[in-house]
Amino acid sequence: MVTDEKPTKPIPKLKGLPFLGSTLDFARDPLAFLTGLQQKYDRLVQFDAVGRLITLTLTPEDARYILQENNKNYVKSAAYDVLKMFLGNGLLNSEGDFWRRQRRLAQPAFHKQRLALLVDGMNRETAGLMASWKNRDLSKPLLISEEMMQLALAIVTRSLFSSDVKNHLENVSEAITTIIQTAYKEIFNFFPATRNWPTPRTIRYRRAVRKTEAIIYEIIENRRREPPETRHDDLLGMLMETRDDETGEQMTNQQLRDEVTTIFMAGHETTANALSWAFYLLANHPDVTEKLREEINMVLGPTDLPTMETLRELTYATQVIQETMRLYPPAWIFGRQPLHSDQFGDYRVEVPKADGMLICPYLLHRDPRYWEKPETFEPEHFLPERVKNRPTYAYLPFGGGPRLCIGNNFAMMEMQIVLTLLIREFDFLPADSKKVEAEPGITLRPKGGLRLRVRARHKAGSPVS
Ligand code: HEM
Repeated sequence: MVTDEKPTKPIPKLKGLPFLGSTLDFARDPLAFLTGLQQKYDRLVQFDAVGRLITLTLTPEDARYILQENNKNYVKSAAYDVLKMFLGNGLLNSEGDFWRRQRRLAQPAFHKQRLALLVDGMNRETAGLMASWKNRDLSKPLLISEEMMQLALAIVTRSLFSSDVKNHLENVSEAITTIIQTAYKEIFNFFPATRNWPTPRTIRYRRAVRKTEAIIYEIIENRRREPPETRHDDLLGMLMETRDDETGEQMTNQQLRDEVTTIFMAGHETTANALSWAFYLLANHPDVTEKLREEINMVLGPTDLPTMETLRELTYATQVIQETMRLYPPAWIFGRQPLHSDQFGDYRVEVPKADGMLICPYLLHRDPRYWEKPETFEPEHFLPERVKNRPTYAYLPFGGGPRLCIGNNFAMMEMQIVLTLLIREFDFLPADSKKVEAEPGITLRPKGGLRLRVRARHKAGSPVS
């Protein structure tokens, strides 16, 4: 008999506890739990968690298959539903035709040509931070994770609104920080009904949402009242300008609000964490720092600020950032839900029984099958000749396929600028000999915050002060 059914082998499955499955093991120490699975299994493994049957994928080929080749069969997982409460129907968590249209409309804002207009703002914000450090008491370690969070927030705010937000920056920063902190708590809240209880947290959160919305709407309304020839070289300006090719429609205020909040949320904590980890790794690898400084000196000299052209020449700085995100990918895991059952070689993921798929950059980035020295910080992992011999999806800090991070070039640019300017002006040294642990939440943060000793390399008044 002819049949098109493929042979199937059962996917290995963890036993787990009755009802709870592996929920507790996962929640207690997700990185240790997942790394343990990677050491034992080579392609797929299933476990029960929070009442669902989860399939963890362990190969670049399956990541590519889910994110790219058969992406139509996969939608974003339930974790993204929680984000809906905060981000509305923004790019990160919308689906289908609505997402496709929004992506088409937003894409031009992120073209390299347009991004070039944001370099100056990124340079200025970084110079502002450097000036403030030069007036600070640097005898005690700085909480670098917080410094990077504030810097990334200032950069994304300026990139979105240019100077329109100048008078509101403090309010926006505070309100956005409250929103993000609430989102963080809610994504791990297994009792969603409590979200609407009037607790101090929800009251603070609602106030923060009202405040940010009021500011965003005010800026949009002010711009709509301007003469049509007025141009704003920022992301909001681009998002307000673009028209749908087919219908000629533009984004409504509500859509703009959702995209702006999404960009705030997706675009600052990720970058801030990557930068914190980069300074942590550089503080512990003086040889890499020295090589990086040689390149900075060659490309930028002692005083030049980066431009779009010189950023392209900073290839070692790019490798340092890539290597940092290999070891500490800010988006360390992400999920998809299959719409229909799907075949992975001899294995079959059966829907509706199996309803969650996990792709884990943290595991793929440290898999000895694809990396020469998986646990070592070695930017040379990203030399072109070494990249060439590796499956593309062995490295996916920005995801892949049609849902690839729209802000990837923005983020790389920002990280290059902050890294090169700060490394040129300051020494970063470990605050103590303790290894900083990674704390996996929505993003991969340094546990307890990252403290480093910082020392100005030049006397006040020289280079960029
Ligand atoms: C180091 C920094 C960043 C990392 C590691 C990162 C990572 C990611 C990843 C992995 C995704 C895909 C998630 C999925 O497929 O489930 C994503 C999507 C997204 N990111 Fe980023 N991101 C970064 C910076 C940014 C920045 C700076 C912006 C905006 C300025 C941004 C805006 C977005 C948006 C809007 C999406 C949704 C895109 C869509 O689905 O069409 N990200 N990001």
